[in-house]
Amino acid sequence: MKLALSTWQEIEHYLTQSDGIIIPIGSTEQHGPNGLIGTDTICPERIAEAIEQHADVLVAPAIAYGMSQHHMAFPGTVTLRPATLIHMIVDIVSSLHRHGFRHFYFINGHGGNIAPVTTAFSEVYMHLDSARCKLANWWRNDAITRLAHEYYGDAEGYHATVSEVSLSYYAHPEAIKHAPCSPEVAPVGEIYDAADFRRRFADGRIGSSPQLASIEAGREFCELAANALLADYQSFLSA
Ligand code: NI
Repeated sequence: MKLALSTWQEIEHYLTQSDGIIIPIGSTEQHGPNGLIGTDTICPERIAEAIEQHADVLVAPAIAYGMSQHHMAFPGTVTLRPATLIHMIVDIVSSLHRHGFRHFYFINGHGGNIAPVTTAFSEVYMHLDSARCKLANWWRNDAITRLAHEYYGDAEGYHATVSEVSLSYYAHPEAIKHAPCSPEVAPVGEIYDAADFRRRFADGRIGSSPQLASIEAGREFCELAANALLADYQSFLSA
């Protein structure tokens, strides 16, 4: 069940059976020469869709913008200030809480969101009774990291990873890019500001070889993530 495709009466009825909601969150930021700018939003949105096909859950519209300041030296990237993202999360949770939702399960596609989103959860707990929030970073799931390591070893990387690019290609085969990547495996290192990021990671990748990405692997990553996160969500509902 999708929040955006429901009526208020359907939500009122849903709330008599469950107080949980799944909220995909990602970013709009560069993902190297062959990764899509929407990758971090496309992945959790597609995983949430797969969960919804298997179970009676409610999925909110994806939050398509995140905290991406370190990617701002690449055209197309859009960032929220950390405070803006914190306020956005608190406002979304507060609105849903007012209607009776209590379990807020965020499926996250972007590492830069982790600090502001978990800070927002602290603010939620200061103001809202009985709210339960969880941030599930899909790519950090054991099943995912195991398969990514088995398929790609160290070439999985840290940004514009092979697994996330694969999953985005599975979700949007019409948007697959064929661009050469040089060097084959991108450099690794610390992240500071946007200008420094571009100097050190010239084509936008960190540690990855996304030219290895495939639709078939993307389907596998999506199903693995959907199974693992559905089980996690179901146990979270009793928290
Ligand atoms: Ni990403």
